[in-house]
Amino acid sequence: MLTETTSPSEPAFSVENIHVSDADLPAFTDMPFEDIEELHLDHPGASDHEYRTRRDYIASLSKKFRETGVITDVDYNEDEQGIWKHVAAKLEELHQKHASPFYLQAKRDLGISNDRIPQLSEMNRKLKELTNFRLAPIEGLVDTRAFLSWLSWRTMLSTQYIRHHSRPEYTPEPDIVHEAIGHIPMFTNTNFADYSQFIGHGARIATDEQIEELGRLYWFTVEFGLVQHEGDVKAYGAGLLSSFGELEHAFSDKVERRPFDLEQVITHDFTYSDMQPVLYVIPSYAELKEVTREYISRFKG
Ligand SMILES: [Fe+2]
Repeated sequence: MLTETTSPSEPAFSVENIHVSDADLPAFTDMPFEDIEELHLDHPGASDHEYRTRRDYIASLSKKFRETGVITDVDYNEDEQGIWKHVAAKLEELHQKHASPFYLQAKRDLGISNDRIPQLSEMNRKLKELTNFRLAPIEGLVDTRAFLSWLSWRTMLSTQYIRHHSRPEYTPEPDIVHEAIGHIPMFTNTNFADYSQFIGHGARIATDEQIEELGRLYWFTVEFGLVQHEGDVKAYGAGLLSSFGELEHAFSDKVERRPFDLEQVITHDFTYSDMQPVLYVIPSYAELKEVTREYISRFKG
């Protein structure tokens, strides 16, 4: 999830650089943050003291990563596991019908099951083996440029806490369900991982206007993307794959599913809180990657 920002760009940066070793990673301590202590009033757990305390505790484990560089596993309790089991099983049914076949296989490859909440540490290990992508725990939202820029180092910032039990189908902020069921499996796809990295490369040198364009590109692909598969349309966006409502809606007649057009997407305004009336269908992850490489190579580095 993204918010507005203004940060300086990096004029000397090469957009062709795609290989990242651990030694190349910048210090996580440099990451700018919003205040994450308070939940928004519309969060279902906002007035639940016990939930807030637990969420803040898990957030503190995530925050520790920036000092130690080590992902701390969370000892999820029975209630939290219960939320996961409920949501994961229900989503799985919809995935069988609507998810991209690559995604379905990727979930199995990463060992993500309906039975228990996966740890970032184990998924991070497998991702690194498969596509040299990394996960970095984060305790809340960071601004758009910072969030996207980490993709440039093949790193996705990922929360560890879980949504409130009163509304298992809904979360106004990213949580482990959104990350592990929505985002993480797709990073096992080399083209998708490279594509994400290109967005990150762009974010590091983008003007403020270009950051807005990249935010829209991210939204209509990484969050709400659809892909062609053998004459059919399937979902690969995390905002779709981690939400019953959004996924069903995406395949209903209330949504216009357009062929992906980069120029259209980067100028297409959207509203975070509404169901999306228009979605874009990419021909393939490889083509998405190539068109994005060409697009960000136009950024003045
Ligand atoms: Fe997301």
